[in-house]
Order: sequence, then C-alpha cells, then structure tokens
Amino acid sequence: MIQAQTNTGSGRVALISGASRGIGAAIAAELARQGWRLSLGMRKPELPAWAGERQVHLHAYDASDAEAEARWVEAALAAFGRIDAIVANAGLMIPKTVIEADDQDIDALLDINVKAPRRLAKAAWEPLVQTGRGRVVILASLSGKRVKSARSGLYSVSKFAAVALAHAIRHAGFDLGVRATAVCPGFVATDMARSITDRPEDLMTDPRDLARIVSMLLDLPNEASVAEFAVNCQLEEFF
Ligand SMILES: NC(=O)c1ccc[n+]([C@@H]2O[C@H](COP(=O)([O-])OP(=O)(O)OC[C@H]3O[C@@H](n4cnc5c(N)ncnc54)[C@H](OP(=O)(O)O)[C@@H]3O)[C@@H](O)[C@H]2O)c1
Repeated sequence: MIQAQTNTGSGRVALISGASRGIGAAIAAELARQGWRLSLGMRKPELPAWAGERQVHLHAYDASDAEAEARWVEAALAAFGRIDAIVANAGLMIPKTVIEADDQDIDALLDINVKAPRRLAKAAWEPLVQTGRGRVVILASLSGKRVKSARSGLYSVSKFAAVALAHAIRHAGFDLGVRATAVCPGFVATDMARSITDRPEDLMTDPRDLARIVSMLLDLPNEASVAEFAVNCQLEEFF
C-alpha cells in the first residue's frame, strides 16, 4: 500500500547557511515543518518567528571566514550529535560585467559562492557519510547553466563553478551514500532578485516553492539521486 508521507525529516539534522532571509529562511521554515532539526548559520543569528519550541540551533556564521565551517560543524554536532544534510545557500551577487569587474570582485564571489560551500561539505563529510544517506544541496543558479546577460556574467562564472562543485561532491560521495544536487533557479522573489531586476514579484519563483523542492530533494532515497534541478519562472531555451 502506498502511504502519504507527512513528516519527511523525522528528526534528521540539516545545516542551512544564509538562513536569515530569502531562500535560506524559506528552506529553514519548510524543513522545520517537515520535522527536521536545524542548525542555522547566519551572520547575525536570530531565532525565526516560527521556531517556538522546535529544536533550532543558531550559529554565527560568516562565509568569508575560512575557519567558520569547521567551527559551525563542531557546534552543530555538539547540539545534535549528527548531521544528515547541508544546504549551502548563502550567496553573493555582484552585478558587474567581466570587463568592469576587478580581481577583488571575483575573489569575493568565489569565496562566498564556491569556496565556502566546499569547506562546509568537507567539514561535515564524516558525519554525512556516517548516516549512509548524507545530502548536500548547493544553491547554484540558472546563471550556473547559461550566461543570460553581460551584467550577470561575473556572477555566472561563480555559479558555473558552484554547479561543478555539486557534481564533484556527488562523485566524491556516491559510493559512500552521499548525494549532492545543484539547485538552479532563475529569478526568485528575494532581496537579491529585487536588486537586479524590475520583474514583478508575482512573476518570480516564490522562495517557499523552492523550499518545497529542496525538502523533496533531501528526502529522496539514494537510488533516486538528482544531480541538477532547474527551476524556471520564465521561458528559457533549454532549462
Ligand atoms: N534570488 C534569486 O533570484 C536567486 C536565483 C538563483 C540563485 N540564487 C541563489 O540562492 C541563494 C540565496 O539567495 P537569496 O535570493 O535568498 O539571496 P538574498 O536574499 O540576497 O540573501 C542572501 C543570504 O546569504 C547570506 N549571506 C551573504 N553573504 C554571506 C556571508 N558572507 N556569510 C554568511 N551569509 C551570507 C545573507 O545573509 P545576511 O542576511 O547576513 O546578509 C542572506 O541570508 C544564493 O546562493 C543565490 O546566489 C538566488
């Protein structure tokens, strides 16, 4: 008999970076609703309004600090004793063309969008492997699949790398039960999208819908692995 699943987290533990607002905050709320225990990495830790009695661990996390991931994982393990999933969501957009940009811009994008997620996966690797079904979600972008415009070109360079990172983690972890997915949305109605487009919000993807997708991805069995998940709010040629 097929039974509806209502509590997909069932006490599993997820770390979510950049959970203060936007997509990360929506993912945190959805995973909590699904029964996950959460460790939320934020630059300014603040308990979400929905948290109530739920088990939420807050950690001061700045993705530009190369030591931060190891400290966060240690604190999360002290709080929960296990890590089943990481959602590398914290991200930076610098709307410059590759011609306008200087090395500092590209360093900043690579630091936050690529190097920090890699360090987080590395720091959490042992506990992820221990579960036999560790999950890694990298919030990449459709800008990691195609270069849409000159002004998103520099960001695209970092997000192509973020997609490659997800694939590289997938390869490193497959025989160990770890599954990694690059989630690749177009415009999502958050501060980031609002700062770069005048597209009406109701024509962008709702962060809560993206959160439902991430919840589903984390819940799929090892034998239904999804390498990339593209999400559109407008017609794209390929994705
Ligand atoms: N919105 C879109 O259209 C869209 C589309 C495709 C992909 N994405 C990706 O989705 C992810 C989330 O984006 P969003 O739309 O929710 O962006 P957002 O509204 O700008 O929020 C960005 C989040 O990342 C955090 N963050 C930024 N730099 C950080 C750092 N150095 N250390 C720790 N946290 C940091 C922010 O924390 P603070 O609150 O402290 O600033 C915030 O929680 C990003 O990786 C983004 O590239 C977004």
